[in-house]
Amino acid sequence: MTHKIILDTDPGIDDAMAIFFAFQSPDIDVLGLTTVYGNVPVTMSAKNALTLCELADKDIPVTKGVGMPWVGPESGYAHFVHGDDGFGNIDFPASDRQLDPRSSAQFIVDMARQHPGEITLVAIGPLGNLALALRLEPELPKLVKGVSIMGGAAFVPGNVTPVAEANIWNDAHAAEIVFAADWELNMFGLDVTNAVPFTPDFLDELESKNAKLGGFVKQSSQFYVDFYSQNREDRVCFFHDAMPLAHLTHPELFTLTRGHARVSTDPLNKGQTSVAPIGSTMSPLWLEATEINVATDVDHDKLRQLYVDTYALA
Ligand code: RIB
Ligand code: CA
Repeated sequence: MTHKIILDTDPGIDDAMAIFFAFQSPDIDVLGLTTVYGNVPVTMSAKNALTLCELADKDIPVTKGVGMPWVGPESGYAHFVHGDDGFGNIDFPASDRQLDPRSSAQFIVDMARQHPGEITLVAIGPLGNLALALRLEPELPKLVKGVSIMGGAAFVPGNVTPVAEANIWNDAHAAEIVFAADWELNMFGLDVTNAVPFTPDFLDELESKNAKLGGFVKQSSQFYVDFYSQNREDRVCFFHDAMPLAHLTHPELFTLTRGHARVSTDPLNKGQTSVAPIGSTMSPLWLEATEINVATDVDHDKLRQLYVDTYALA
């Protein structure tokens, strides 16, 4: 079965690895890349997405989306994680391809209307484009197949604050809108993505299986591995963004827990994704919160092999 998706992204090194996984997978049809600020400013996200499409020889629409959080000042960016260029400072030549003139939100709405009930929205950055798309088309939940996100931290600490993960922290009000919408939402947060460290031999294997795309991931990830390896004996990094895509094609690798979810927007807990597993509370305040599916476990070895095997496909 082929999954039609729109991939909403802030490339970003782990975004790049995920985007190439989606392009390589025979079970995923990427209708377009919609970009958002987050790791880098949205103009750089859009430029980087065009570069990744050119490198992968993929001719699909790329749009530029929101550059600011739903509420509050311009966000700080994660250049300290992804480099000044978003690709680990490797000075990779930028594409001169042109963007689709529509906003990311408008593209999402147009495609959902064109393919009612067929598209899964996969968001691997802050959620402003999905929130805006819901405002443009309030019937959007009925027009998409579902939503899968990399973001949040349900039962583990955050990575920006003790309680908040970066994608949700970057635009907590947008996330609150997206989590509350009446669609099927699968959340792949730090509960699973921080549980699967990848070492340099994984990068070597991606490169050996696919010199062009795997080579780019290996080259751009050196800066990323340096960041994640601070204060550690070993050298590792975390490819957060590919997990919602791996679940799409191989759901059997994951354990999902259903629960009532709330996103905090107060200053102290901004971006916290609190989840009450079904049956765990009688509190009306929690029982009225929208139910989502949270990934709480993944088969590490099979996931790693899936990534390697998919990059190896011609
Ligand atoms: O917290 C990890 C997430 O934030 C990933 O999507 C990474 O690309 C950054 O956007
Ligand atoms: Ca990302």
